[in-house]
Amino acid sequence: MSGASGGRAAVIAGIGCHLPPDVVTNEELTRRLDTSDEWIRSRTGIATRHMVAPGVATSDLAVEAGRRALESAGGGGADAVVLATTTPDRPCPATAPDVAHRLGLGGVAAFDVSAVCSGFLYGLAAAAGLIASGAAERVLLIAADAFTTIIDPQDRGTAVIFADGAGAIVLRAGDASEPGAVGRVVLGSDGGLNRLIQVPAGGSRQRSSGVAPEPGEEFFRMAGREVYRHAVERMTTSSRQAAEAAGWDSPAAADRFAAHQANARILATVADDLGIAHERRLSNIERVGNTGAASLAVLLAQAAAEGTLTAGHRLLLTAFGGGLTWGATALVWPDVKAL
Ligand code: UT7
Repeated sequence: MSGASGGRAAVIAGIGCHLPPDVVTNEELTRRLDTSDEWIRSRTGIATRHMVAPGVATSDLAVEAGRRALESAGGGGADAVVLATTTPDRPCPATAPDVAHRLGLGGVAAFDVSAVCSGFLYGLAAAAGLIASGAAERVLLIAADAFTTIIDPQDRGTAVIFADGAGAIVLRAGDASEPGAVGRVVLGSDGGLNRLIQVPAGGSRQRSSGVAPEPGEEFFRMAGREVYRHAVERMTTSSRQAAEAAGWDSPAAADRFAAHQANARILATVADDLGIAHERRLSNIERVGNTGAASLAVLLAQAAAEGTLTAGHRLLLTAFGGGLTWGATALVWPDVKAL
């Protein structure tokens, strides 16, 4: 700590993640899809990913990740639970109250945040805001997606990319000058392009039409090539804004850069544009694929556990997803033991 007070802020106090045990290789995907290990590796950077077993829901992943984050923070509870997810257990109600209940935190504020792959950063802004406003002293933020449950298993454009997982952090009330303090989270959206990433059926638009969904409309759809272009542009721009908001000379001042693990080529282009050295880029996409809202939280938890992200690192985070939505923030990584 510098000693100087920067005002009340949310500070990261613990982190953990959970991946479902079943691993799916590229080779396994080639048995049911017109694709190849070579295509998937070279175009996405993915070799393996985790997938939920039949009957396992987002809340099951979230509870385990949340339990680990609370333990990492030294035990104790939280007075709010924020769950970022694209794949709630049911359309109604939100999944967070059930997760809070199962973690023994029943009675606290609990709500879901829906921002697809930007969910962790939107959730971070919401959770940090609860603390900054004085509404909460300690918040459990979980980002979890059982993304494979909304993927069309026959759609090679998405089935090779998306995967399941959960990551969580505990935020406590502290001072803005402390390592781990969450500063400004830059957020943005463009609903004019919502068609680029969507599940067409199952919502009020389709239901009120009285027209039964076409086969496959209950699955996730993504206009990959167009999304790719926007992902690069938005993550690059918001990273610059976050670095500036944090008072850094440039994004290249980051000791570690963590971007939503969408596609290895997207990550390389964004990091190159920002001038971030190769050894400063965190990535786990080869092993876990694109886990939606959970992506950044899982990446941070694994990097902290493996020692590639350590106390004192200046960390630049950015994400992009359906909505369209995007975000970025810059912070100094605290001394936490990831579980
Ligand atoms: O997480 C939230 C945001 N999501 C993203 O940021 C993802 C952004 N998009 C992407 O990562 C990429 O666009 C994809 C990985 C989805 C696709 O890669 P691409 O290099 O953009 O491929 P493309 O869509 O331009 O397709 C190139 C070719 C096509 O064949 P033709 O038309 O050139 O003959 C596709 O049909 O690759 C074909 N293709 C495949 N081939 C083998 C598409 N998917 C596959 C596949 N295996 N799995």
